[in-house]
Amino acid sequence: MSSGIEHVLNELRRFDPPAEFVANARVNSRAEYDALYKDSIDDPEAFWAKMAGELDWSRKWDRVLDDSNPPFYKWFEGGKINASYNCLDRHLGTWRKNKAAIIWEGEPGESRTLTYQELHRQVCKCANALKGLGICKGDRVTIYMPMIPELVIAMLACARIGATHSIIFGGFSANALIDRNQDAQAKLVITADGGYRRGAIVDLKGAVDEALPKCPTVEKVLVVERTKKGCAMQAGRDIWWHDAVDSASADCPAEELDAEHPLFILYTSGSTGKPKGILHSTGGYLLGAYLTSKYVFDLRDEDTYWCTADIGWVTGHSYICYGILSNGATSVMYEGAPNHPTPGRFWEIIEKYKVNIFYTAPTAIRAFLKWGDQWPKAHDLSSLRLLGTVGEPINPEAWMWYREAIGGNRCPIVDTWWQTETGSILITTLPGAMAGKPGSAGLPFFGVQPQVVTEEGEPVEGMHSGMLVIRSPWPSMLRTLYGDDDRFKEVYWSKYEKQGWYFTGDGAFRDKDGYFMIIGRIDDVINVSGHRLGTMEIESALVSHPLVAEAAVVGFPHELKGQGICAFVSVPTGVNVGEKDKITLREHVAKEIGALAKPDQIRFTDALPKTRSGKIMRRLLRDIASGIETKGDTTTLEDFSVLAKLREDKEA
Ligand code: WTA
Repeated sequence: MSSGIEHVLNELRRFDPPAEFVANARVNSRAEYDALYKDSIDDPEAFWAKMAGELDWSRKWDRVLDDSNPPFYKWFEGGKINASYNCLDRHLGTWRKNKAAIIWEGEPGESRTLTYQELHRQVCKCANALKGLGICKGDRVTIYMPMIPELVIAMLACARIGATHSIIFGGFSANALIDRNQDAQAKLVITADGGYRRGAIVDLKGAVDEALPKCPTVEKVLVVERTKKGCAMQAGRDIWWHDAVDSASADCPAEELDAEHPLFILYTSGSTGKPKGILHSTGGYLLGAYLTSKYVFDLRDEDTYWCTADIGWVTGHSYICYGILSNGATSVMYEGAPNHPTPGRFWEIIEKYKVNIFYTAPTAIRAFLKWGDQWPKAHDLSSLRLLGTVGEPINPEAWMWYREAIGGNRCPIVDTWWQTETGSILITTLPGAMAGKPGSAGLPFFGVQPQVVTEEGEPVEGMHSGMLVIRSPWPSMLRTLYGDDDRFKEVYWSKYEKQGWYFTGDGAFRDKDGYFMIIGRIDDVINVSGHRLGTMEIESALVSHPLVAEAAVVGFPHELKGQGICAFVSVPTGVNVGEKDKITLREHVAKEIGALAKPDQIRFTDALPKTRSGKIMRRLLRDIASGIETKGDTTTLEDFSVLAKLREDKEA
């Protein structure tokens, strides 16, 4: 943790927004932010009631916040609302009806633009098709799709009829689909015959076919024909999208749903082997996504906004779909890889669509930095006015490159901190109101009360790091872990139960200006290229292979990915292993979880270092993986020779 702090202590650069940006910004001074923030904290219910009034409700709420049974907070009880209506219908009575809602670019180069009116039509047809397939309000629908417009259509169709969607990132494997389908008891899977990634076709339907024999609750599969490469269709179970949706009626009024109706489940890794089904509600979530989109991205009607995330992650949920469309803005969506066919693809897209606001991840920025300035230089990026980053701490070098090479030293950068659990951005700068500092996320968004505290819950002041907690509830917070209220309480609310604080799992520190700098996860979660992976999940994948007796997985600093994955593996007695077995194990993890979880390093060992009570000493392993001489306390280490051997087995 300390290296991060030293970084910021030495980081004196700060960049005020340019006067022109400030002049037009929604919030254009620190004083204005301070006043709004103060209102939101002094009287949160009045503040949130006022903000919620910017959404369309079919029935107004009776009560803003019910905090009688913490941590099961309820927002806007009695209110009736529909997220799909707020993203679509409410724009149709305005000049925005023929405005571009989604501008889509396929990896092979096709382009499609859906206006609000057309998107609405497609969503209604899809919603009717879902009904025709027996999907009712409250059912769970798994969506496992490439980044094509049908993905947004499917999610808004679910929201329209009150079915809860669970989107699974297309990079996850058949096994990951099994776990998630079973946990959510999904009734329908929506997928495609494939999607394009670096010129190849990702066989999504193949993975679904492999998973479904173990998913007894899934009755039907709706398949978009994206690649036309052909795929097996199981009679009675699999239906082509064009057969079911194209002929469906375009008349489908949005269901009036309770504010607390579950909008979606999104699985994320935790510190045990089993992914957590983060459950979000309708009204509170939508309000958070809407309001942060409006203020953090300073969204205005003329903007073309592009978030490069995959909708399989929360960033895509909130900042490609719900937050952006509820604002009536234009959202660019790109199917493929950043470096296909060349490392200039993103810059080409920005130039082509004259993108004004660009939101991406530090891992991508670091990759572009490495690929070189010639790629962005070859394109006209002068349309850009604001840049954003999300998903992991950004190193100041990458921040500066982003500012100079992409932002032309003119665009403010918002470094937005949030989590799948928080639903929307909680810590950031507001681009027209405050300076950006390399490596620092910034100040709390309206209504958010973050604090850095010690293990015991004492506030940490000054330049010290500690645990990041959120002291009071906010509308877009997760409601529970799907089907597991106890785990919800245990993971997020037990550490500071007495104080009633939400524990983020992140370490942070606050600088003299009150800016929060996020240091990273302090639990057994690694953040690889902005994607959360539980070490236990990777360990259980490894242990399920006969070559593995025991495994311990840790993160280590990685130049491009932020953190890399290092697996220490002990093999059964008498088994001899070599280089090719490392490949076998990497592939095994890819099959069990997905390619994103493949270990960067595998180190075979006779035994893992343990304490006398049998706990694996992860701290030591982290040091070894990072190439750091172990300074820490090793007195409880069971067998010192194990440590020496581990160091000897340096990864090639
Ligand atoms: C990390 C992504 C530093 C953090 C929206 C958090 C960040 C986890 C930032 C959540 C940031 C996210 N600076 N770290 N701006 N944003 N993180 O659930 O560790 O995929 O807990 O949500 O990413 O990841 P998740």
